[in-house]
Amino acid sequence: MKNSEIIFAKKEKLIPIAGDFFLKDIVSLDQFNQKSIELLFRQVTKIKKTSTKKLLKILSGKIVGLLFFEPSTRTFSSNSAAVKRLGGQTIEYQNPLQTSSVVKGETIEDTTKMIEQYTDVIVMRHPMVGTLEKVAEVANIPVINAGDGIGEHPTQALLDMFTVYEKHKHLDNIKGLMVGDLLNGRTVHSIIKGFSIFPNNTLYLLSPEQLRLSKKDLDEAKRRKIKLIEIKSFEEIPADCHFWYWTRVQKERFADKQEYEKLKLSFILTKKLVGKKAGKNTLIMHPLPRVGEIETAVDADPRAVYLTTEAKNGMYVRMALFSLILSNGKKV
Ligand code: CP
Repeated sequence: MKNSEIIFAKKEKLIPIAGDFFLKDIVSLDQFNQKSIELLFRQVTKIKKTSTKKLLKILSGKIVGLLFFEPSTRTFSSNSAAVKRLGGQTIEYQNPLQTSSVVKGETIEDTTKMIEQYTDVIVMRHPMVGTLEKVAEVANIPVINAGDGIGEHPTQALLDMFTVYEKHKHLDNIKGLMVGDLLNGRTVHSIIKGFSIFPNNTLYLLSPEQLRLSKKDLDEAKRRKIKLIEIKSFEEIPADCHFWYWTRVQKERFADKQEYEKLKLSFILTKKLVGKKAGKNTLIMHPLPRVGEIETAVDADPRAVYLTTEAKNGMYVRMALFSLILSNGKKV
């Protein structure tokens, strides 16, 4: 794309969140520790119990810019809804490559500098890994990464972790299963970092050979001390996982579409498999969209939360993030 050569003035490295989200960027799970995740989840719980009248005051007078250079249903809509449920407003670009001056050749740097003149936070999705880190460096207002190519999707990981926490009441000693496109899955990359923050977690990884987690990510996980166990078949799924996390094989990341067709339905989650291998408290999750890798017959299972709780928690987690970033959580 035209904006691939991005030249940014360096501001500073990503700032850890620790005990304070106020005016911070959210670009990577690398910025988080136990304290910041616990603080965020307390805020989500409070937001869920707060009256509409009180919520509507939190972002009153604030405007959030949503710029999505890749398609989105959930992340875009839940961010937009989160701002509006907190009394704020949005400037929205669902397809800036056709509808903004980027089409005339304006750089991401200049686009960012413009949008920050009109808004209080920028939420951006972009196809290139690392773009959001660079946007955060140049922006003078907080920036939230809504997915950077095959890099990270930190707010999705946070909502997924919140969904696990809400069900199981802890984030340590977790046994999870992650299935599908682990090489290109940005949500997977953020979740692995997220669960590595808490002790004694084990994630079982099941993917086609070609879509295994990269060696770099596997090595990094070793340094982080999370236990990653690669398995090769459904037979090896351990009993009583706290969650199963299915993911889509991502067509848009394949240069060879025949290769995609060959791999896309390597691991289909069926009602039969749920009956055979899921525990009675195993959450069945998926960041969505799904394109055939979960049978619709699974949807009615009470353990399946991808179309319900998991998606809705996306809005609540984003409400909590906006309230912490813009009002330090004080108005709840
Ligand atoms: N989970 C997720 O990122 O979905 P969208 O691509 O629809 O935003």
